Amino acid sequence: AASTFSGERRVLLAAPRGYCAGVDRAVVAVEKALERYGPPVYVRKEIVHNRHVVETLTEKGVVFVEETDEVPEGALLVFSAHGVSPAVKQSAEDRGLQTIDATCPLVTKVHREAVRFAKQDYEILLVGHDGHEEVEGTYGEAPENTTIVNGPWEVDQIEVKDPDRLVWLSQTTLSVDETMETVTRLKERFPNLQDPPSDDICYATSNRQAAIKKVAPDSDLVIVVGSANSSNSVRLKEVALEYGARRAERVDFAAQIDETWFQDAQTIGVTSGASVPDVLVGEVLRLLEDYGYGDVEEVVTAEEDIVFSLPKEIRKALQEVE
Ligand code: F3S
Repeated sequence: AASTFSGERRVLLAAPRGYCAGVDRAVVAVEKALERYGPPVYVRKEIVHNRHVVETLTEKGVVFVEETDEVPEGALLVFSAHGVSPAVKQSAEDRGLQTIDATCPLVTKVHREAVRFAKQDYEILLVGHDGHEEVEGTYGEAPENTTIVNGPWEVDQIEVKDPDRLVWLSQTTLSVDETMETVTRLKERFPNLQDPPSDDICYATSNRQAAIKKVAPDSDLVIVVGSANSSNSVRLKEVALEYGARRAERVDFAAQIDETWFQDAQTIGVTSGASVPDVLVGEVLRLLEDYGYGDVEEVVTAEEDIVFSLPKEIRKALQEVE
């Protein structure tokens, strides 16, 4: 097909993008566990929601399982960055498993809020996606007191015991705008709804969304690198479309990019989810260069310098070696 566009082809590369501190910590924890104990290291669920990371760790001797009962008694099990409910921790203990908890500290923070509010007899409206591992874990802290709210469209159906003893919490990787819409609707129905003590949507999620909001209006196509089960990656694609990208596509790998997407595309925006190693973005940029998009401008909307220390079980094990 004949292309009608004229002018310079360019790439707008969103920053921040890619790895957040919680993902980095979880992946390093598994790598250190492999070094220290040797394979097999078992991990419950995907350590982070990224195909490349999971495949690379599998090659190194990590065995990913769905549940604790698949792990041989006494073996080493790592809990993923998304967190686990108390029931899962208990079942690991009952099986005599040695565990390393790689739950992101910002997810643990939400768990603590849930426990605290439940103890004070609050009912928790947990804004998040039903079925996502993080939501299962947070919900599991206080199942009797928690109702999951998937989005604004569910607000009218919610039933509560006492509209004056309500607090909302959220999943860490939601769309900032959609969550605000949900909370606004909730407050219209329940004017005494309390806010969480601090934001539950994490810094990495909101920074990546802010960056793509800046890039999207100038982009004919936005490419989001990230896996289909990665909540924050899927949100980036939605946010790009809401903010004026003519087209947005999510890919796991450069090889999934379809050259027909480039038709009439002068400016291509690129970003990646919080579980995506930057090598994958590098491969996308190399492919784009082959198609004439070699001019790359980074659009920086924030600097990030957050680092989390490794899970305590790993820090202790490494100290013992020294
Ligand atoms: Fe943690 Fe946010 Fe990353 S909750 S794992 S810092 S996306």
